[in-house]
Amino acid sequence: MFNQEKAIKILKDRDLAYLLSIPNLTISRQHFTNLLTKIKLFELSRSIPGCIVEGSVFRGNGLGAFLHLSSAYDPYDFSRRIVGFDSFEEMKSFHESDRAYKLNDFSDIDISLTQDLLGLHVENTAVPKMPESASPRVELVRGDAVKPFLLMWKLILS
Ligand SMILES: C[S@@+](CC[C@H](N)C(=O)[O-])C[C@H]1O[C@@H](n2cnc3c(N)ncnc32)[C@H](O)[C@@H]1O
Repeated sequence: MFNQEKAIKILKDRDLAYLLSIPNLTISRQHFTNLLTKIKLFELSRSIPGCIVEGSVFRGNGLGAFLHLSSAYDPYDFSRRIVGFDSFEEMKSFHESDRAYKLNDFSDIDISLTQDLLGLHVENTAVPKMPESASPRVELVRGDAVKPFLLMWKLILS
């Protein structure tokens, strides 16, 4: 188990620019494994045209990973947009099979931090000038994702 308390003790009061320069040291094994899964998923979906849609953004860590993967693998492909859905508030409802979570989980989301950091990475494009017609590479959609997702699945399965 990653000792987060110990990590916070080590990192506390350190220079932020120094910490930003060592993401592979500050990331835990668990978060790195999660990232590896997203890299594999991205690689598997690369030959399929369309957008990447994440059904629950939370703090934006997954969305950040897909944004980096899209810019790194396909810097000139502005058609593959990354769209993240989230209510950005506590979970309104949950099923008894969602045993790992409680009703008030995920209420501590700082959406402006997520937006600022995503914006920073969008600006850091590998392409010197983005075509004016290009839609933003990443978009956050706030609201209940259940209805649009059910609709999407119906369309896919029909
Ligand atoms: C387990 S977290 C997602 C983690 C995220 N995918 C990542 O990789 O960091 C669950 C998220 O689902 C969101 N959520 C739960 N029910 C939702 C709903 N009906 N519509 C939109 N978002 C919802 C919560 O707000 C929370 O942010």
